[in-house]
Amino acid sequence: MKVAVIGANGKVGRLVCDKLKKVEDYDPVAFVRSEEQSKYFKEDVGIDASLTSIEESTVAQIAQAFKDHDIEAVVFSAGAGGKDIERIFTVDLDGCCKVVDACEEAGVSRFIEVSAINAEERTFWYHTALRNYYIAKKSADHYIRGTNLEYTILQPGMLVTGKETGKLVTLDLLETKKDSFYAIDRDDLAEVIVKIVQHSKGTIRRTIPLANGGLDIDDFLKTLYE
Ligand SMILES: NC(=O)c1ccc[n+]([C@@H]2O[C@H](COP(=O)([O-])OP(=O)(O)OC[C@H]3O[C@@H](n4cnc5c(N)ncnc54)[C@H](OP(=O)(O)O)[C@@H]3O)[C@@H](O)[C@H]2O)c1
Repeated sequence: MKVAVIGANGKVGRLVCDKLKKVEDYDPVAFVRSEEQSKYFKEDVGIDASLTSIEESTVAQIAQAFKDHDIEAVVFSAGAGGKDIERIFTVDLDGCCKVVDACEEAGVSRFIEVSAINAEERTFWYHTALRNYYIAKKSADHYIRGTNLEYTILQPGMLVTGKETGKLVTLDLLETKKDSFYAIDRDDLAEVIVKIVQHSKGTIRRTIPLANGGLDIDDFLKTLYE
């Protein structure tokens, strides 16, 4: 199965590509926004790539790129970095909506979005520096929920690098993580993404908050359908 990774050149996107490349019968296709990045994925990483900026491309162009690469699932992990309000609009909000529209146009039903924890709870983020970013994430999530796609909205806490544990906090204990800002290592997030690309059970049309905790990722995923 060919899986488009939108934002493949990012920290999470690269991990998803690396992990998915090793899974039999799954081929990540890196969706990137420069020739240099495309060359890197094709020549250094050894996977296919599509030069498709979600800001510069139309919905029809993104849909065509999905068709050209026989894409059957999409992972959306692109982001503008949380500061520049214009690009928060064009990447995190409208970029995501355009990719969703392109999925519908190209007949790709499986869509996994990397959102952010508690995006739907204004009181959590309204008086923080991340307000604009969260407004975009909340709105993009809402847009996704209004489609017929087989979506999964993953809502990780603060992303960290180099602290992977392979373990997640259970949903009922999530509140106890509030003081540690619901941190999760990018590697653990990428692991979840790759696992649910392969086994979607319990994740379809759901919003799933993620933070590191005490339960193995496989056992955490089982709690979603047991
Ligand atoms: N940081 C956190 O604590 C946190 C918490 C929760 C959720 N998240 C979300 O997690 C996701 C992944 O995070 P990350 O750390 O991997 O972010 P990242 O390293 O900044 O990666 C984001 C990627 O999006 C790409 N991108 C930007 N504009 C694009 C465009 N027009 N077309 C195609 N790709 C574009 C960037 O491309 P370039 O490489 O060319 O710049 C970059 O590779 C993001 O959606 C972020 O909002 C982050």
